[in-house]
Amino acid sequence: MKILMVCLGNICRSPLAHGVMEALVKEEGLDWQVDSAGTGNWHVGQGPDHRSTREAKLNGVNISKQVCRQFKVGDFDEFDLIVVMDQNNKRDILALARNDEDSKKVRLLLGDKNVPDPYHDDTLFAPVYQLVLDGCKQLLKELQAKH
Ligand code: 4NP
Repeated sequence: MKILMVCLGNICRSPLAHGVMEALVKEEGLDWQVDSAGTGNWHVGQGPDHRSTREAKLNGVNISKQVCRQFKVGDFDEFDLIVVMDQNNKRDILALARNDEDSKKVRLLLGDKNVPDPYHDDTLFAPVYQLVLDGCKQLLKELQAKH
């Protein structure tokens, strides 16, 4: 199973989802791959936002080695599942889908709820981490039941 976590900047939310899912997958002893990308290109080549790195570290997850990249159409071929953080990400990714097979790979991490964008609000990083953790646990459970 190959899972791609996607948000707008790939420096706040999707790096958390990437690191958390990778940790959960490892705990389960699964041979799954996890990566992340942004719909935007502003931060390509940079590490995660220091507030996400800090929040992850407080929870025992190291995301400091991740490097930001932008989503590319080839990711539809590379990954089994494209997991987006909010409706805007979903719209932007679906706009790049070439066919139904691509579109079917796209889903929101929280099913029908958005993971809020914390970029302009320092107080959101802790709750965002918890939402991401809950979403990743739920997603892993669902996928394990299916595969
Ligand atoms: P993210 O947060 O999508 O969770 O990585 C953002 C990061 C950067 C920007 C917006 C959102 N930005 O506009 O640069």
